Amino acid sequence: MEPSPTLSLDAASSVEPLRILMASSEAHPLIKTGGLADVAASLPAALRDLGHDARLILPAYPLAARQLCEPKQLCDLKLPGCRTNVRILEGRHPDHDLPVYLVDAPEHFSREGNPYTDLSGRDWGDNAERFLLFSRVVALVAQGLPAIGWHPDVLHANDWQTGLAPALIRDQPGHPATVFTIHNLAYQGLFDRATFDRLGLPPSLWSLSGLEFHQRMSFIKGGIVFSDRVNTVSPTYAMEVRTARFGCGMDGLLRQIGGRFSGILNGVDYRIWDPKTDPFILQSYDRETFGLKAENKLELQREFALPRSEDAFVLGYIGRLVEQKGVDLILAILPILLQDPRIQMVIQAAGERPTEQALLAIAAAHPRQVGVLIEYDEARAHRIEAGCDSFLMPSRFEPCGLNQIYSLRYGSPPIAHRTGGLCDTVVHVTPETLAEGTATGFLFDDPRPEALLNAVQQALQLFRADPPAWRRLATTGMLQDFSWEASARQYLELYSEAMADRTMSERPIHTGAALA
Ligand code: GLC
Repeated sequence: MEPSPTLSLDAASSVEPLRILMASSEAHPLIKTGGLADVAASLPAALRDLGHDARLILPAYPLAARQLCEPKQLCDLKLPGCRTNVRILEGRHPDHDLPVYLVDAPEHFSREGNPYTDLSGRDWGDNAERFLLFSRVVALVAQGLPAIGWHPDVLHANDWQTGLAPALIRDQPGHPATVFTIHNLAYQGLFDRATFDRLGLPPSLWSLSGLEFHQRMSFIKGGIVFSDRVNTVSPTYAMEVRTARFGCGMDGLLRQIGGRFSGILNGVDYRIWDPKTDPFILQSYDRETFGLKAENKLELQREFALPRSEDAFVLGYIGRLVEQKGVDLILAILPILLQDPRIQMVIQAAGERPTEQALLAIAAAHPRQVGVLIEYDEARAHRIEAGCDSFLMPSRFEPCGLNQIYSLRYGSPPIAHRTGGLCDTVVHVTPETLAEGTATGFLFDDPRPEALLNAVQQALQLFRADPPAWRRLATTGMLQDFSWEASARQYLELYSEAMADRTMSERPIHTGAALA
């Protein structure tokens, strides 16, 4: 129950210091497959900066356990579905003053590599068991385990891997308020009926107002149905997912929960992502010294074995290779773009095998213009942001997107599809926005190759024909401030609403869910 002595309550904040348990299956740099990891580390850190006692809980993947600072074992638990005891380890986050709990269940989490898939890219066959176990432990810690001696006011769960935790604590006396954040509605944690039966969950959860979703069990639905407040990571995506086009079958439910569902734009951590202080880039720079950015371009060309030329227009891409990200649109337009010998493209990505192969093939056919690395290397991601002239983000949908926000700060104007968080963070170039100095990038309306090609050509035209206008565009982007503080304050507001509402009686069913 003791608030940590290092906490200082922000004088400007009117709220009492809160105890918040942030549950996530990834957090940078302990383990990362996508943007969720950045948010799960930097949001609790920002909440602590505002004087609140936020703590993080995640599975003890080997990579995460190796990086935990000052680890100590807190307790040993016997849980259903687990032959050996589950240990809870406590330690500190390597980059922030942030307590971290790791759920050490070797049978479930002691596997190297990707947290969700095996080496061949297939989902682990026991993902339902793994993340039910994680959710059970999250629910126990949220209820205030004696061995920890800390009772959170709010459980903040993230994405499907933690979706069952709000369902499990809902009927427990004195449970904390619950907030559930959807980082990507396309990943729902769907399993068949036989899996539901095997898990031994309360049978009442198999219902339309529980976990059942088109005859399957949905983990994400647990978070949506049973949490006091639900949000997603940008206001535009929050509107989009209420429609059939973006709702992945959940649009009806999200419309139905009405004011309980909202959008809060992610922040970014400028202590990590700022070209002025970035230790991973060759040449630091800021708005005033924008010209120095070119040094990073030459270095990037060297790193990708492309001819070094300041005059080239270098496009960058970083990301997972899944349909969402629209890399097929990039592949479709590259043959046309590459007819201009002064265009180069660097790509760091991994994911679906056919797309990886197509990218490698185009790089092999155009070794002087295309560089492709199939992997994810965090330090190189910084060098791409700093070294490219413009950053591509043709995502079909994008709940928030972080790379476009990084590219704004690195003076590499994004070219992005007008959707989700991309709309909420990029101001499209028009004669008017350029003249008034608000433009920060290029948005195109349809996720089709012609529209992307058009936007790239518009960018290229400005880059070549009007360097001062390009510089103004890039440095306006560098001025934008998407730091966490404002978003963290909105989360605090959401936590207060959730706490005020805890006695909600209009929740659809009583689950009778038992904790462990
Ligand atoms: C997911 C979304 C991405 C978002 C991130 C963090 O990776 O796809 O748009 O920025 O989560 O919330």
